[in-house]
Amino acid sequence: MPEPIVIDTPQAMTEWAVEVGRRDMTLGFVPTMGALHEAHGSLIDRAKQENDAVAVSIFVNPTQFGPSEDFAKYPRPFEADLALCEAHDVDAVFAPSPEAMYDRDMRTWVEVGGLADNLCGLSRPGHFRGVATVVAKLLSIVRPDRAYFGRKDAQQLRIVEVMVRDLNLGCEVVGCPIVRDPDGVAVSSRNRYLSVEERRQARCLNQALQLCERQVDGGERNAIKLIEAMTNLVQEQPDAEVDYIALVNAETMQDLEILEGHVLCALAVKIGTTRLIDNTTFEIAPE
Ligand code: PAJ
Repeated sequence: MPEPIVIDTPQAMTEWAVEVGRRDMTLGFVPTMGALHEAHGSLIDRAKQENDAVAVSIFVNPTQFGPSEDFAKYPRPFEADLALCEAHDVDAVFAPSPEAMYDRDMRTWVEVGGLADNLCGLSRPGHFRGVATVVAKLLSIVRPDRAYFGRKDAQQLRIVEVMVRDLNLGCEVVGCPIVRDPDGVAVSSRNRYLSVEERRQARCLNQALQLCERQVDGGERNAIKLIEAMTNLVQEQPDAEVDYIALVNAETMQDLEILEGHVLCALAVKIGTTRLIDNTTFEIAPE
């Protein structure tokens, strides 16, 4: 497989993308922060299937990390990331420096009203402003026909969908299924921080979602009761600390009391010092 071309400036990236368009080829784009794993690989494969060329960005975006978060310590295994891109037949890798992405006089920020007020937006103030801003910048630079995002970050995906609509960014946003390891734990770059014992305890996120699904299948519609049952299950793990467990409307991200319509069940749990997220969705017909 030919090696992907590595591009490190926004201008060169746009020139490459314009050339792809000039050849009447469609461009798929997968934004990432690197530390690539098989879930990123699944997004890339989907983009390859649906487009003539694929670009992947690798950029640990400083503006979406809070002051006490793991920006400095976020893994940056660039050579391994390039090898994964090559194995998945990526055409171009966009890997800019923070200085190339953010002018020292940067003043313009993207905020998607309401959607960032709950779930991860509550516990990570400013996080989605950083995400929306960098994704808007990346889409303006890469100008893809389609951009691919994982459903593991359901709130991020919804924010990007609404931003692309509201700002006429002109690409199709494609949501891709959550990739899990055989033990049910959603694949994540942060899983590498877990000890063997913590990894065992991390299964409680998916187990709580499955418990919720079973109770909903059995007819339970009361959000407080469902959240209580999930909280009890998670709290059986000695090193688990619940950040949030929520049942929200999947379009608005607002809390539900009684489940109805398109429902997102999402949770964030700290296992030791590592914060993990997971979610599932279901459709509930009105009674
Ligand atoms: P990152 O965490 O690297 O994730 C890149 C993409 O991979 C996201 O769309 C994420 O939802 C998806 N992904 C990660 N783990 C997944 C899994 N187990 N199953 C399915 N998809 C998965 O998300 C970001 O980077 C950043 O916020 C970014 C959008 C690049 C902006 O900086």
